[in-house]
Amino acid sequence: MHPETLAVHAGQKSDPMTGAIAAPIYLSTTYERSVDGSFPSGFEYSRDDNPNRRNLEVCLAALEGGAEAITFASGMAAITAVIESLPDDLPRRLVLPDDIYFGVRSLLNETDIGKRFDWDVVDMTNLTAVREACSKPTGLVWIETPSNPLVKIVDIAAIVQVAQEAGAISAVDNTWATPLLQRPFEFGADLIVHSLTKYIGGHSDVMIGAVVSRASGPQNLALRAIQKHKGAIPSPLDCWLALRGIQSLAPRMQAHCHNAMEVARYLSGHAAVSAIHYPGLPAHPGFAVASKQMKSFGGMLSFEVVGGRNEAMAVAGALQLITRATSLGGTHTLIEHRASVEGPDTKAPESLLRMSVGLENVLDLIADLGQALGQIDQHAR
Ligand SMILES: Cc1ncc(COP(=O)(O)O)c(C=O)c1O
Repeated sequence: MHPETLAVHAGQKSDPMTGAIAAPIYLSTTYERSVDGSFPSGFEYSRDDNPNRRNLEVCLAALEGGAEAITFASGMAAITAVIESLPDDLPRRLVLPDDIYFGVRSLLNETDIGKRFDWDVVDMTNLTAVREACSKPTGLVWIETPSNPLVKIVDIAAIVQVAQEAGAISAVDNTWATPLLQRPFEFGADLIVHSLTKYIGGHSDVMIGAVVSRASGPQNLALRAIQKHKGAIPSPLDCWLALRGIQSLAPRMQAHCHNAMEVARYLSGHAAVSAIHYPGLPAHPGFAVASKQMKSFGGMLSFEVVGGRNEAMAVAGALQLITRATSLGGTHTLIEHRASVEGPDTKAPESLLRMSVGLENVLDLIADLGQALGQIDQHAR
């Protein structure tokens, strides 16, 4: 079945007890044993497994075309689990993209995980640099494309091949693309990670993450053990909300992509904008690779305002419809000054604003950007 159909049907049969089309939310933490001590429903205790979680995991595995999905309390809990579950026979060294989501850098710099692993950071748009980094013993190669916040595009097939030659596991953070736009397993990746908090939840009202694996194997068992025993699980309501979000993912992604493309075209011609980062524009350095590996170019973009930090902050401050807030993938268009959010270690230029283009009418978004940028333009003259 096509992804659009799987999004509505996988893991989403009518409730066997009542025929309800929308699944009940199973809040029970515990399940009844039979006289012989067995669990006839297959459920025992909610940290181990829960019907809403299982439905979501079935759907995610089907959507990505993987063997198994394992959900966690947030995208960061999923990322942590991937690093911690790295098989013992692999080197404790990670190769990471320079534009990786800054939360991963904080995880390594500020928690004990950073003491247990070494890592190198490379520009993954430069294949020679990736090969060089992988010439040292490497356990995990991390791919994030499109990247956060510079919207860089990485050639998944090429990087996965380098990782395979190095004997390393490859993991792709597919949060910004979603399974509807990009299918990393088709390029040979071993693991896919999602912050389901973003497009998959889709309404800025649930925090949840997942790891999907291409094949069954020892790392899946290790991931399950982390989920079960370390206990960073999503609640039944979180799982229910994420699965409800998936049902409308396909048309939402179409609308996000359409709106982002229109906004990018508008910004690329504006005198107060010095750079625009959107892979759907032919001038973007990743356009050819994005056209090859993505079905459409996504709903995220960033742009740089002529001037610097003050001008970027002034544009964000002058917006009346577009909301100043972090995160992405919801119905509302959000904008933020990434350098302020990420702090002193940021790689984001001070003049950069990141936008998650939402589902409003794009003409209203363009009008709002126009009036805000117009104010800067006037000051500059
Ligand atoms: C690409 C990417 N990966 C992972 C995360 C972390 O997800 P969460 O906030 O659900 O922990 C984020 C959050 O913004 C993200 O943008």
